[in-house]
Amino acid sequence: MSAERAVPPAAETLAAGAVLRADGLSVGYAGAPVCAPVDVVVGAGQMLAVIGANGSGKSTLLRAVLGLLEPLAGTVEVLGREVDERERAFRSHVAGVLDADAYFPGLTTREHLVLTARGHAVRSAGTVVDELLDQFGLTGQAGAVPESLSSGQRRRLLLAAGFARPRRLLVLDEPEQRLDVRMRRTLAQLMREDAARGVSIVFATHDEDLLEGTGAPALLVTDDVCEVLSPAAAVAALARGL
Ligand SMILES: Nc1ncnc2c1ncn2[C@@H]1O[C@H](COP(=O)(O)OP(=O)(O)OP(=O)(O)O)[C@@H](O)[C@H]1O
Ligand SMILES: [Mg+2]
Repeated sequence: MSAERAVPPAAETLAAGAVLRADGLSVGYAGAPVCAPVDVVVGAGQMLAVIGANGSGKSTLLRAVLGLLEPLAGTVEVLGREVDERERAFRSHVAGVLDADAYFPGLTTREHLVLTARGHAVRSAGTVVDELLDQFGLTGQAGAVPESLSSGQRRRLLLAAGFARPRRLLVLDEPEQRLDVRMRRTLAQLMREDAARGVSIVFATHDEDLLEGTGAPALLVTDDVCEVLSPAAAVAALARGL
């Protein structure tokens, strides 16, 4: 798929060792942690879900991984370097799709994706984008501006933009939001394909189907302890309401 051009070869990624490493990572606001400290390592081509109740701290953790929030304690490293969102190398390797809608009102769906791909020096950006439009079911909306899209279509556009750029680490915050069942299944497949090419994916989710579809282990976030569960235990935890 498109990402063949957008993603560095898996061998290169593997040589870099751990893609994400958190050691005693404590996150929160105004000096107060929102959850227990996190110790986790995500290697090249591995996926890690982040699960937990509303308000448990999943988005806060993802913000720290993306360098949008300073840790209260401990460390978080991406590709062997402490996270610094201002570093060009960090920005070129890490793609994040959080839950905020962010668009240029005057640009069409296709123009948004082409801008993202070209901005990250993706070769054959037009071809890559056409494939993404197809995969995200947006070909019919290629010429539409964001305000004329449905909310699920806008969500598809945001996610497609995450896949339109080079990445070694993809961070998604509840990517299932507002997606229909078919798109959620397609998304799980796209995530698996991305991981198979060596991209590491960390994603917060409340969706049992997405979690099962990716086959990922999950970090269960709570006040007392943050622990990694096996894929089967993670699905069971979501199914019983954590
Ligand atoms: N900008 C902020 N300033 C202060 N507190 C915040 C801020 N953002 C979130 N919080 C608080 O931090 C805690 C964790 O919030 P967070 O958004 O990380 O939860 P979450 O696990 O992502 O929940 P959800 O499943 O609802 O998305 C909550 O108690 C929330 O009220
Ligand atoms: Mg959240």
